[in-house]
Amino acid sequence: MSGAVRLTTAFAVPWLESDVVGPEGWLSELRAFLLSNAESLRLRWSPEAAPITFDGLVFTRPDLLSLPDAPIRALDKLFRQAVLRAVESLSGRPSGMDPRSLTFESWASIGKSGAALGVHNHPMASLSGVLCVDPGEEAPGWPESGILRFYPPAFAAPPFPGEMRSPWSARSFDVAHRAGHLVMFPSFLHHEALPYKGERERIVVAFNCRFAQST
Ligand SMILES: [Fe+2]
Repeated sequence: MSGAVRLTTAFAVPWLESDVVGPEGWLSELRAFLLSNAESLRLRWSPEAAPITFDGLVFTRPDLLSLPDAPIRALDKLFRQAVLRAVESLSGRPSGMDPRSLTFESWASIGKSGAALGVHNHPMASLSGVLCVDPGEEAPGWPESGILRFYPPAFAAPPFPGEMRSPWSARSFDVAHRAGHLVMFPSFLHHEALPYKGERERIVVAFNCRFAQST
């Protein structure tokens, strides 16, 4: 007779969240800055050439954090602090890292009604994040409007006979945006933005972070 089967977790995916606290009025200044500069900062990225499908979205150039404007300087500082805290949470000890050593790409995405972003991940980065600047507005009858949906690494695995319970389930999970909410996740994690049905612009700033190789 065989023995009992022991069930444990072999691998897990970290998930990090923060409610970003910036200088007084900073988030609304950032919103105003992004809206008023959306056209000049716009990334000329045709849907045909893009590696992912998107609709109704304006992306800014990915070097947003290099801009000298005050709301962006504050954003740069907050992102670096958040990533260092994430690193410390994950390692369980002070990082000793210089926040200036972190390499970022960061871009805003501004979506009007109908905006959606197909399933993708962020290759060539370690940690990615999405900060909600303005969630836009609720759309009656569309509870999933603008939802950011994440998929487990094994989401494309063949079906299992009977659904595995949490935390082994291959189900996706959803993030409903709210202003000032930052989520951070390993860059390999696949995700998508479901169609946004509100009218007011929905604005997020995303980033990819890479860590310098220690010598
Ligand atoms: Fe993304």
